[in-house]
Amino acid sequence: MAIFKTNIPSKLPNAKTTIFTTVGNLARKHKAIDLSQGFPNFEADKKLMGLVSDAMLHGHNQYAAMQGYYGLREIIAEKIEKLHNRSYNPEKEITVTVGATQAIFTAITAFVHPGDEVIVLKPAYDCYEPAIEVNGGVTVPVQLKGKDYHVDWEEFRTKITPKTRMVVINTPHNPSGRIFSKTDMLQLQETLRDTNIILVSDEVYEHIVFDGKEHESASRLDDLASRSFVCASFGKTFHVTGWKMGYCAAPAELMHEFRKTHQFAVFCVDHPVQRAMAEYLKNEAHYLELKDFYQQKRDYFLSRLAGSKFKFTPSQGTYFQLLDYTGITNEPDEVLARRLIVDYKLASIAISSFNLNNRDDKVLRFCFAKTEDTLEKATEILRRVQ
Ligand SMILES: Cc1ncc(COP(=O)(O)O)c(C=O)c1O
Repeated sequence: MAIFKTNIPSKLPNAKTTIFTTVGNLARKHKAIDLSQGFPNFEADKKLMGLVSDAMLHGHNQYAAMQGYYGLREIIAEKIEKLHNRSYNPEKEITVTVGATQAIFTAITAFVHPGDEVIVLKPAYDCYEPAIEVNGGVTVPVQLKGKDYHVDWEEFRTKITPKTRMVVINTPHNPSGRIFSKTDMLQLQETLRDTNIILVSDEVYEHIVFDGKEHESASRLDDLASRSFVCASFGKTFHVTGWKMGYCAAPAELMHEFRKTHQFAVFCVDHPVQRAMAEYLKNEAHYLELKDFYQQKRDYFLSRLAGSKFKFTPSQGTYFQLLDYTGITNEPDEVLARRLIVDYKLASIAISSFNLNNRDDKVLRFCFAKTEDTLEKATEILRRVQ
């Protein structure tokens, strides 16, 4: 076939294959145990799968409503009200999306104009910055500080300018496993008060918070909620990342604008899965028990690292654990991550590429959303690493 040659400039000149794909490929090539990818290696509840096939067999196979199946939006609204004491109108303030990724992309696309600045806390999940860039926005990175990845709110405030259109936060935070405290959320609220800045709050790990702590959703505080898109993921909550279904909640005026973009980019999301989710959410244990389920996995993983040279602070949330390797080597994180795959057959993620200026914290990220058998084999390797 003739090759179509174009000199049209790329809208994303710096975009490369994501580190997750590169590491995943390398892990497969070397037959490594893969704790790099952020998804479970165990099956979801068969009941949920049965509900999807029931929905298909009952004829829910054509387009759903553009905003999402109403019954699902209704139960999402009930869930948020119960957990965070915030009332969202399911008709006007909740939209079902293709995972949290689409919710985030659409919120950015709907509001970020060329030249607008968007503050992003680093290390950041990798979908925020390309979405800002493709819309002509400018990312203003703010590095999280110290080994515990806390926000320096004073520095944060200095980054706000008349051009700041939006702030993106993520709690519980990937990759650090840190959660925003109530004090953090209050600081954020005070910082944004009296501005027109929109908040995109990526809360995909909302139900994975450990040690009795609470998830401090942006929807909990009046002023923050009034300017926020709260983005969530059923993929993360119900072990079905491949179904790519999530939602976002925002006040009607913001959501009205969001839906203008949503209806022409996506229109609506997989109908039978929405029906199934609406039914499955009726049993709150399906999401409330998730934190105990993953805390057990975290504790199992960490208890089996006793005797290894890795150091760590237990993750506060998400299904990721950072391990500090300074007791083993001074190598750059990407070098060690590669060595672990090639020599030890264990894959993890080096996080320097998510930090500002590739700051190398000498930590690797491990995903513990894996079976006990996998975690046992992985920790056996980690105890041998030198
Ligand atoms: C912080 C964060 N946000 C968003 C996503 C994407 O969520 P979804 O699969 O629902 O699009 C992920 C997935 O790894 C994530 O870790």
